[in-house]
Amino acid sequence: MGRSPPWTRYVITRTLLVAVGATPAGDTEETTMTDTTDITATTPITATDADRTLKAKHRAMWAMGDYPDVAARLIPELGPVLVTAAGIRPGDRVLDVAAGTGNVAVPAARAGADVVASDLTPELFDAGRASAERAGVAVQWQEGDAEALPFGDDTFDAVLSCVGVMFAPHHQLAADELVRVCRPGGRIGLISWTPTGFIGDLFRTMKPYMPPPPPGAQPPPLWGDEEHVRTLLGDRVTDVETRTRTVTVTAFESPETFRAYWRETYGPTIVAYRNVADDPKRTAALDRDIAAVAARHDRGTGTTVMDWEYLLLTARVTA
Ligand SMILES: C[S@@+](CC[C@H](N)C(=O)[O-])C[C@H]1O[C@@H](n2cnc3c(N)ncnc32)[C@H](O)[C@@H]1O
Repeated sequence: MGRSPPWTRYVITRTLLVAVGATPAGDTEETTMTDTTDITATTPITATDADRTLKAKHRAMWAMGDYPDVAARLIPELGPVLVTAAGIRPGDRVLDVAAGTGNVAVPAARAGADVVASDLTPELFDAGRASAERAGVAVQWQEGDAEALPFGDDTFDAVLSCVGVMFAPHHQLAADELVRVCRPGGRIGLISWTPTGFIGDLFRTMKPYMPPPPPGAQPPPLWGDEEHVRTLLGDRVTDVETRTRTVTVTAFESPETFRAYWRETYGPTIVAYRNVADDPKRTAALDRDIAAVAARHDRGTGTTVMDWEYLLLTARVTA
């Protein structure tokens, strides 16, 4: 599927989305051919006005707050974990998809790879450039949608994404793109938050407060479900290896401190608060619910200690 003509891919994807009737909560609902997206057999989803509007909203969301601080303060160890798991070597051509500030791109470059960092939100690149400069490495930064990557077929030896591609709303399109730009025999490496872990819990908790998602958009933590990702990648990959791990977050004194930080810095949470801003009761409920998520996952005494679960998946593109 990854190497078939684009119109074929879009027909297949469209059919799949309608059949699944997926919603961001993972629920199923009746989805009809009269939904709001304008998709025909020859129109890629990413070329529709509805999709451009959706991606513009996503870009604005990830540019809100201070995602560079989240990446640097809470999950800096995940990039090196993925670089090691994917066996990145000097001279490898590596693509970091939905790279943000280069959590993967910078350690991959430190490992000697020739790295492109691509993301929907170029507002994050300045922090990435500063990080690369501090590390003394060169990274190429390229704006791009994970569902329509601006690279040719078979361009990279390794295509990696750390809690990134999972946020593209059309999972099959994004998976097809990962495979397409990776050369036969090359590696795909992904870290994704699981539905059962902390971030999965947080997204489920925030859902009733968020603006309703458009038809066809799928929930990000599904990428943390091994079977889901195996289905997305299909027989176009071999040697699939998965491990469920956790990253321990100790940066907060209490669940309330976590809530206050998250409310100020993390785009999706900021959007949830803005959506209920004119309703003090719902805002207070959201406050309570987010602190409760942190409390549920806190195993600390005195300060907060949380283990955030993720799925680490590596695979090889069929030669
Ligand atoms: C949680 S951040 C992860 C960033 C980085 N990989 C890291 O480990 O810190 C999610 C990233 O996905 C990007 N993103 C969301 N939707 C995207 C899309 N459709 N295409 C490319 N990037 C996207 C956001 O801009 C954001 O940088």
